[in-house]
Amino acid sequence: LIAVNKMDLVGYSQEVFERIVQDYTGFAARLSIPDLKFIPISALMGDNVVESSREMPWYTGESVLEYLENVYIGSDRNLIDLRFPVQYVQRPNLDFRGYAGQIVSGIVKVGDEVRTLPSMRTSRVKSIVTFDGELEYAFAPMSVTLTLEDAIDISRGDIIVHPRNLPQLQSSFEAMVVWMSEEPMDPARPYSIKHTTRTTKVHIQDVVYQVDVNTLHRSPAERLRLNEIGRVVFQSAAKLFIDAYHKNRYTGSFILVDPVSNNTVAAGMVIDRLPEAELRAAPDAGAAPRSENIRREVGRVTAADRQRLLGQRGLTIWLTGLSGSGKSSIAKEVERRLHEAGRHTYVLDGDNIRFGLNRDLSFSKADRTENIRRIAEVARLFNDAGTIVLVPVISPFVADRENARKVIGEDRFFEVFVDAPIEVCEQRDSKGLYRKARAGEISEFTGISSPYEPPESPALTLRTGEKRLEQCADAVLEAVRPRLRP
Ligand code: ADX
Repeated sequence: LIAVNKMDLVGYSQEVFERIVQDYTGFAARLSIPDLKFIPISALMGDNVVESSREMPWYTGESVLEYLENVYIGSDRNLIDLRFPVQYVQRPNLDFRGYAGQIVSGIVKVGDEVRTLPSMRTSRVKSIVTFDGELEYAFAPMSVTLTLEDAIDISRGDIIVHPRNLPQLQSSFEAMVVWMSEEPMDPARPYSIKHTTRTTKVHIQDVVYQVDVNTLHRSPAERLRLNEIGRVVFQSAAKLFIDAYHKNRYTGSFILVDPVSNNTVAAGMVIDRLPEAELRAAPDAGAAPRSENIRREVGRVTAADRQRLLGQRGLTIWLTGLSGSGKSSIAKEVERRLHEAGRHTYVLDGDNIRFGLNRDLSFSKADRTENIRRIAEVARLFNDAGTIVLVPVISPFVADRENARKVIGEDRFFEVFVDAPIEVCEQRDSKGLYRKARAGEISEFTGISSPYEPPESPALTLRTGEKRLEQCADAVLEAVRPRLRP
């Protein structure tokens, strides 16, 4: 909520208010705040504070108080990922061993299979005990005591989760940090980190940048001083179970304590590990560089930053099929419609790329493999930049497409099989190439003198012999929609 104060000083002008709203909306776009509300007020005169203002009849929304009393915050609660940091172990007698704490996110039910971290032992929830009796299920932010079916060694600071939904176990992580102490950060010293119910030591490895809160400009910094905010790389003595802050406020946040004075010196929010995860995934995707003296550079702007700026996720829509099956036509139509919907797109068309980047390649099996490899690498870069890429290429070999999937990454690769029987393609013969191939004027022509291996399990199959172009485009858009959100 942004309360635009002192409206009385500008004669309650709607124009002034709207200009401020516009300026701030532009600024806030870079803060990834999902919804923002502006209210024009005069704290001095009480306009729109408790009651609606008579002076600003042009504003028909709620007053600040009304807004605060009614704003829906339920969706800020994470009820998906179970995180139960154990606060203490209750052993009143030999027959009872319970783990007390607050469910910081998610839901837990009696009978649920659970895993304890860091021991990675698995058990089931036997009972959920509270002061008012036992429960069948409990959810964040309830404080409860869990008992498990197996006697597992669990102590304070351990965390109970569902086995298929684990936080990351990390000793190296990055976070946005606000420095809150008069005494500046000293990267040479260890600090204590308090994260959920655990406390351990951390070292500051690097200050990636500092953020100017007025302009959001990022500048290099060696250390942070009072009230400064920056992106910091940490190394902790013990591994921590962390989530990105935007996924989980509790397991994604921490405080730093000066171990000598015991003062809280900073608060931090863990950043998505996306860039490093990408770096780790990338090297296995293709062969290593020719020289071992090549190291990866890590940028200060991440793929996640770019996605936020564009309001979309990078995605590759890979259209495979015979020549003349309709890949390019579908790609063009899907691109046109995505563009109209405000999406940033690009088509890497097989034919077009053979005019430039791949003009040295023939249609031999080896050259087709190289063709697909290069196109996949380019698509990966475009995706990293945040662009939605459409790739209409025959890509006749399963192994080449699987390699493309690896290079681009499973979650960004959307394979569409443009399936038209060869008789249909040959009858259309839009470029006259089938006729030439039959006449022996083109060698290694896919479907005639070179094989086409259809995908085994494409994300989507389009039978272009039976469906119209618009219907095919509809099907693609429908299928990829959930994948585009950042
Ligand atoms: S791929 O097999 O390496 O994936 P790509 O999609 O780049 O092929 O290029 C195929 C296009 O090149 C076809 O649309 C067609 O216009 C043209 N072409 C020329 N010769 C051949 C051939 N021998 N086989 C397939 N396509 C060919």
